[in-house]
Amino acid sequence: MILVTGATGNVGRHALEMLLGQGREVRAASRAPERATWPAGVRTVAADLADPASLATALAGVEAVFLFAVPGSGPDFVAAAEAAGVRRVVLLSSGAVDDEAEEQDGPIAAYHAEIEQALRGSDLEWTFLRPDVFAANTLMWAAQTKAGDVVRGAYADATAAPIHEADIAAVAVAALTEDGHAGEIYRLTGPQSLSHADQAEIIGEVLGRPITYQELPVETVRQAMSAHVPGAILDGILKAWADSVGRPALVTADVEKITGRTARSYRDWVSDHAAAF
Ligand SMILES: NC(=O)c1ccc[n+]([C@@H]2O[C@H](COP(=O)([O-])OP(=O)(O)OC[C@H]3O[C@@H](n4cnc5c(N)ncnc54)[C@H](OP(=O)(O)O)[C@@H]3O)[C@@H](O)[C@H]2O)c1
Repeated sequence: MILVTGATGNVGRHALEMLLGQGREVRAASRAPERATWPAGVRTVAADLADPASLATALAGVEAVFLFAVPGSGPDFVAAAEAAGVRRVVLLSSGAVDDEAEEQDGPIAAYHAEIEQALRGSDLEWTFLRPDVFAANTLMWAAQTKAGDVVRGAYADATAAPIHEADIAAVAVAALTEDGHAGEIYRLTGPQSLSHADQAEIIGEVLGRPITYQELPVETVRQAMSAHVPGAILDGILKAWADSVGRPALVTADVEKITGRTARSYRDWVSDHAAAF
């Protein structure tokens, strides 16, 4: 049995469907499974990674877990997984984690690194997926593309190699179901470095109307985003954008190496989500 946590999320939804498509025995976890829409026939379980008492039922009879990183949840998850006899854990970590750093740069890197540390110190077979920027982050522009032809935001020249969530899921499924991934760390990116302005242009090309990116002052963007994003996380996002300006984003071959397929392009991702824009 494979337990998929974060099964209602961008990546987990795809992992769940891919595993079901392979005919695997899968259990999908959510804090509120009754509120989600699930693929036909899937078995679900209520589990909150921030509530260790909820984990024993979710983990009973489970051999492998796709683990969503909930801040502070590492040690309790490891204890519950070892007690349940789980063998293998594939963690959805973050490309922000830096193995060389004495102290992680910001809270996003720090909480993912803490969960990695708990898994490293366990008897479990672990694999860490460290994706960089999700293409899905650009869904934050959808309200603007629905309302007009201009996307307004910070740093037109900030770069990323946006990754399709289905590619992260495909790597997760390989690591959950095949041998040879224990102790491996995969740095996952999309196939091409693109600026914010490039990404807006590609959305326009897919939608069939010109869309341009208009750069706003950082403080204006900070104020707008602070309604939805906690301060320390927001600082990290704005800093990452500022640091990337004028530097091509890292592009790795790990998606292709693990799945045998080239990583989907940002254009592919927009085509798959065109209705949202
Ligand atoms: N966005 C990026 O650019 C980026 C880059 C690198 C790494 N990441 C990492 O990728 C992850 C986001 O993945 P995603 O986009 O697939 O997720 P998502 O769409 O944001 O969905 C969040 C998921 O987390 C689950 N969840 C939240 N709190 C939980 C808890 N206490 N216990 C159990 N489940 C909980 C939710 O499940 P329910 O609500 O159903 O319980 C939901 O399935 C984050 O860890 C993020 O740091 C993101």
